[in-house]
Amino acid sequence: MIIIKTPADIEIMKRGGKILSRVFDVVKETIVIGMNAEALDTIVRNVILGYDAEPSFLGYRGYRHSTCISKNEEIVHGIPYADKIFLPGDIVSVDIGVYYQGFHVDCARTFMMEPVAPDVEKLVRVTQESFFEILPVAKAGNRLGDISSAIQTCVEKNGLTVVKDLYSHGVGRELHEDPLIPNYGKRGKGIVLEAGMTFAIEPMVNLGTSDILTLPDKWTIITADRKWSAHYENTICIGVDGPEVLTQSN
Ligand code: MF3
Ligand code: CO
Repeated sequence: MIIIKTPADIEIMKRGGKILSRVFDVVKETIVIGMNAEALDTIVRNVILGYDAEPSFLGYRGYRHSTCISKNEEIVHGIPYADKIFLPGDIVSVDIGVYYQGFHVDCARTFMMEPVAPDVEKLVRVTQESFFEILPVAKAGNRLGDISSAIQTCVEKNGLTVVKDLYSHGVGRELHEDPLIPNYGKRGKGIVLEAGMTFAIEPMVNLGTSDILTLPDKWTIITADRKWSAHYENTICIGVDGPEVLTQSN
C-alpha cells in the first residue's frame, strides 16, 4: 500500500531533509584521503544526534552503523569498517538516513578521491545525471515506469549498466515503504503517480555487468565482475508540476 503524505507530513520530511543535507555538507568537508569509514560513520552519527534526529539505519534489521559506505566494486550496503580506508583513485558512496519526528529521509552521494580514472569519473557523473533525468517526469498523473525509464535510458545511452536486483523505494514513517521502484522499466507502465507520494530514488550504476553478489558479511553488495559502481540518491515528493527534492544541499 502506498501511503500518501499530508502537507504536514511533508513539512516534517522537508525538515528532516534539511538536516540530512547539513549532514552531507559535513561529510563533504570531512571526507579525505587516508580517512577510514568507521571514523566517518562516527562523525555522521554525532552530527545527526546533534540535530535531535536519529540515524535511520542504526538498528535497522540488526544493522549496527549510521551509514553505509561502499567503495569501488561495492555497490551499496557497505559496512563502515575501520580498515576501509579511502585511497587516491577510490570512489566512496556514502548512504545516510535520518529519522526526524516520525519520518525517514534517505540520501546517498558518491565521492571521488582524486585523481580518479576518466571512466570512473564518467560513471559517477552519469549516475548523478540519471537521477536528474526524472525531474521532468516525476509528477502527478504520470506513471512509475516514466521514472524507471528515465533512469535506465540515461544510464544505457552512456554505455553503463543499471543494477536490476536492487530498487528505489517509497519512504516515510518506514525507511522502506511501497512501492518498489525499479531503476529500469518502460514509459507509461506501472501505477499512476499522485501528489504526496514520497520516494527515495537511488540509481546504482555499474561500469560492467549489472549482476550483483552479497559478501559473507551478509550486507555488502558488490558487482559480480568486480568492476566499479556508483550510487546517487535523493528523497523526493511527487507534486502536480514535478517533484520536490527534499535532500539536496544548498
Ligand atoms: N539506504 C539503504 C537502502 O535504501 C538503507 C540501508 S539500511 C541498512 O537500501 F541497514 F542497510 F543500513
Ligand atoms: Co534507500
